[in-house]
Amino acid sequence: MSMKDRSLRKLHREKILNILPMIEYEEFPQAVLHYYDQHQRNLPWRKDPSPYHVWISEIMLQQTRVETVIPYYEKFLKKLPKVMDLAKATEDELHKLWEGLGYYRRVNHMKKAAIIMVEENKGELPKTYQELLTLPGIGPYTAAAIASISYGEVIPAMDGNLYRIMSRVLGEDGFITKRGPQKFLTEETYLRMDHKRPGAFNQGLMDIGAGICIPNGKPLCDQCPIIKFCYAYHQGNPMEYPVKPAKKSRKIEHRTILLLQRGNQVALLQRPKTGLLAGLWEFPSLQGDLEKEDVLSYLESKVIPVKSIEKLLETKHIFSHIEWHMVGYFVRIKDIPMARENDTFTWASFHELEEEYALPSAFENYRNFILKHLKKGMYYESKK
Ligand code: ADE
Repeated sequence: MSMKDRSLRKLHREKILNILPMIEYEEFPQAVLHYYDQHQRNLPWRKDPSPYHVWISEIMLQQTRVETVIPYYEKFLKKLPKVMDLAKATEDELHKLWEGLGYYRRVNHMKKAAIIMVEENKGELPKTYQELLTLPGIGPYTAAAIASISYGEVIPAMDGNLYRIMSRVLGEDGFITKRGPQKFLTEETYLRMDHKRPGAFNQGLMDIGAGICIPNGKPLCDQCPIIKFCYAYHQGNPMEYPVKPAKKSRKIEHRTILLLQRGNQVALLQRPKTGLLAGLWEFPSLQGDLEKEDVLSYLESKVIPVKSIEKLLETKHIFSHIEWHMVGYFVRIKDIPMARENDTFTWASFHELEEEYALPSAFENYRNFILKHLKKGMYYESKK
């Protein structure tokens, strides 16, 4: 849609809704703030919205639900209450604090940004939107959220929620992933912002996005404080916005996961430092969907002496562009010196697997399984 088409549609919308732009620019923010004052969610980062707190929460909230984030946020701040603590934390510690949240690159970037803040800014976050944008992992959305919530800068925090709401309000029918529609919606949101409480305005819209103008399913328009301004509602088709291009199908990878137990330990390997789940720990695995005999021949070729082998349930994990379809084998191996030669595995005890090594949630079921077995082993050990 061209600029000219957008201006024509704007006029059409104003006619249908029977509003004048100047009135909308005043009333829209008042309606959002009123909603926020009456119904805002009680969230831990809202109690003391320091830039550090808002930064951590906003990074965690990308791609992750609020209810999931809350315990992670609290644990993270307890362990790393200041920028300096984050700058000094090891990558393994950070991965452990992030374990299960996914998109681990987020926390690696946070550490890099924290080091810069310590070296260049006395351990503080920069004070403006533009300066925040220069740091690793801080894009326009995060910079806008921090600048508006912590510093009162008038700048819209355009995430999926705000794009969805505003595409319905304005009837934006271009692909929401494209620059043109995004620029238009950002500018129009900016024009509607409250200048005294920009952080409350952004968070009010976030709350409307979470509870009313919801991402999956029918919006609860009868409860919406900005219904009066919503073109899609008046057209009777809010579910048709935002317009998204068809999703590409995900690549499927089959993997065979080996839970190798030796005494009271299980074998782990560290993933490469780059790529998917970089630097995290995982159980050894083989490509493909292997039968028991194939696994046994592999173990034999590696001179790993097998005591018993058991096939486990199949599991699936979905990443954004890829799916892992996994089958697991629980293999008890004999603890003989020969098996220790050329041993490339790291062996983790129950305690270490639980407290020290960060594993992606793709392995959640297998990890719970092996933890149970290691725990049983500990019980027998202590009875000996
Ligand atoms: N989603 C992203 N940022 C948020 C915030 N600050 N409050 C609530 N939900 C959010």
